[in-house]
Amino acid sequence: MRKNIVAGNWKMNNDTKETKSLLKDIRKGIKKATLKNTKVIVAPSFVNLNTAVKVLGDSKIKVAAQNMNAAKNGAYTGEISADMLKNIGVKTVILGHSERRAYFGETDAVLKEKVDSALEQKMKIIFCFGEELNDRKENKHFELVESQIKKALFHLPEEAWNKIVLAYEPVWAIGTGETASPEQAQEMHAFIRKTVAEMYSVAVANNVSILYGGSVKPANAKEIFSNPDVDGGLIGGAALKAKDFLAIIAAV
Ligand code: PGA
Repeated sequence: MRKNIVAGNWKMNNDTKETKSLLKDIRKGIKKATLKNTKVIVAPSFVNLNTAVKVLGDSKIKVAAQNMNAAKNGAYTGEISADMLKNIGVKTVILGHSERRAYFGETDAVLKEKVDSALEQKMKIIFCFGEELNDRKENKHFELVESQIKKALFHLPEEAWNKIVLAYEPVWAIGTGETASPEQAQEMHAFIRKTVAEMYSVAVANNVSILYGGSVKPANAKEIFSNPDVDGGLIGGAALKAKDFLAIIAAV
């Protein structure tokens, strides 16, 4: 059965000292029992991944990268490969975040390549997608989300889905303080699960964790997570404060 997951996407925040201190506070504040039922993941910047792996040690809190290149190695100045990540103990990667799509030209086709490469290299993937405000205003949000998932993931064989977590992040809710209502989140998550069930099977759909992301805070986490098809969250701003992140983890 699918797991509850809370993942913190730190984006381009926190130097090494801040990384250590935030992780120590999270580690200290987290209850062992919580980690039995909930998978907790943090995604610091590339330069602090090594530090994060060391600080977290055997704590069961996992470390993810925020991106990777699809190529195995070679002349790709400034890029990071899956091998480099695995080499330092990072086995999960976030792909398709809306900021990567918007500012770094990551199209569905580019993301499909990254997905294939990550899976080939035995990485786990948190795959992000979501509509912009205009899509929702024009009532095209279901269509858009379906096409994002289809184009990057629906060529995969059924067994690949054991390595995939989905993260629905409506772009209009990211870093804006505006959250999808619990009803909007549930409606979209149920739609996503149905779409996966139609393409693969009910078993695959029931097995995949679908996270919600976009201005999740301690104050709204419980209400969002209590929906049957919301299996946790991908947290940006609120993951940068141990107290808030811990409160969100406790709410799942
Ligand atoms: P936010 O970011 O929680 O700051 O809205 C979420 C995300 O971008 O993953």
